[in-house]
Amino acid sequence: MEEIELTIDGKVIKAEKGKNLYDVFNEHKIPLRSSCGGYGKCGECVIKITEGKEHLPALTLEENQYLGNVFYITKERLCCRLPVEGKLSIELIKKD
Ligand code: FES
Repeated sequence: MEEIELTIDGKVIKAEKGKNLYDVFNEHKIPLRSSCGGYGKCGECVIKITEGKEHLPALTLEENQYLGNVFYITKERLCCRLPVEGKLSIELIKKD
């Protein structure tokens, strides 16, 4: 099992390669907004990718719907649409 290093708001954790990032957040009890349970239906699980965007897939349809096609400016993605494929640095977005 290959492990990937993720830095989330400065805290470093390890995650299994290929795992869904939303599941990783849940396992590590990292607070994340969601009302759809990780199915790409609420648009609330927004995170900011500050490093490692080259390890992420292209914007999904759901992300395009909720975030618009401006990832290259905002660096925002929907956590539940992302697999862990390489080292990432992530900022949580606090909208409260
Ligand atoms: S958790 Fe609802 S869109 Fe990601």
